[in-house]
Amino acid sequence: MGIGKCQSFRCQRRIGLEYGLSAQFGARGEKSALNFAGHHILGISQFDRGEVDRIFDVADRMRPYAQRERRTTVLEGAILGSMFFEPSTRTRISFGSAFNLLGGHVRETTGFENTAIAKGESLYDTARVLSGFSDAIVMRHPTAGSVSEFASASRVPVINGGDGANEHPSQALLDLYTIRSELADRQRGIDGLRIAMVGDLRFGRTVHSLSRLLTRFTNVSVSLVSPAELKMPAELVDEMRQSRIDVVETDQLELGITNVDIVYSTRIQEERFESQADADLYRGRFRLNQSIYTALCEPNTVIMHPLPRDSRKGAQELDDDLNDDPNLAIFRQSDNGVLVRMALFSLILGVSDQVDDYSKPVNWSTERRF
Ligand code: NCD
Repeated sequence: MGIGKCQSFRCQRRIGLEYGLSAQFGARGEKSALNFAGHHILGISQFDRGEVDRIFDVADRMRPYAQRERRTTVLEGAILGSMFFEPSTRTRISFGSAFNLLGGHVRETTGFENTAIAKGESLYDTARVLSGFSDAIVMRHPTAGSVSEFASASRVPVINGGDGANEHPSQALLDLYTIRSELADRQRGIDGLRIAMVGDLRFGRTVHSLSRLLTRFTNVSVSLVSPAELKMPAELVDEMRQSRIDVVETDQLELGITNVDIVYSTRIQEERFESQADADLYRGRFRLNQSIYTALCEPNTVIMHPLPRDSRKGAQELDDDLNDDPNLAIFRQSDNGVLVRMALFSLILGVSDQVDDYSKPVNWSTERRF
């Protein structure tokens, strides 16, 4: 990981003293937390393929805890500071749950109006203060670059939970983790992937991060389906092409989704438009429902969406009539988010090899209905 290292004295001290040699040589003899402990997670550019594999391996090992077969107290006493300045359901709760599932505590605030930022406090001061009583921080903010700015003043590792239209790295990691698992069921790997990204590719930070992540793999083809005004930023298309990804851009759904393994649908990011009327021009433009899916897609094409899908009449980019289609992976995606975020926390806090050492049986009924 080239960038995003927590530079402060406290971070350095943590890496040097608290994580010490075990960070270099994990209990299983793997080269491990050295690459992650004390690092911020701000954008996908900081990861190489080996690090992505490492995150996925750790995420795999989190499954028994996420599924309540076991529990672990490896982060007992640790505090996550969670600051979400934009609406969020799954990202905020899944980061919080991931930290709780590792035995840590979560202190959170939502919305500018509930913080001292509403009184004029700077991101710098907020970061200095919050990092004084947290062990890690996750932050979502409407401005691109703001989480990096915050992180540069933080004394503890910061994870970007989405900064404006820029990036959403943990979402891309959980998306790719899901892609890997869905394709494995079809005897395929990520190399050779054919994916369509559909919808608001201009403002959608999840597709920005996912595009960057795909550059780490080989033989990938990406078809970008969007209205001309909501195209993927040219810089990201260039990055993909420079990495030998075969990129096709179209504004025709039927051209984009016919020969792919994954259709990744996205919501029109109405909060990033000048006015509601501007966003309404595009809402409902690309709808996937069961009949369109059956007519256009190859059998067993996986259907994904970062969620929330817009289920209001006039939008419905992913129709409810797909809910019983086994190829709909959207809730497997959100379930996987907890695994991947547990992996990220355990890696940046240098405990990924100790999770099982602090494990116990669960005391309560863990039956799930389906
Ligand atoms: C996405 C986001 O916030 O960027 N949601 C999420 O975190 N899963 C996508 C969206 O809001 O459309």
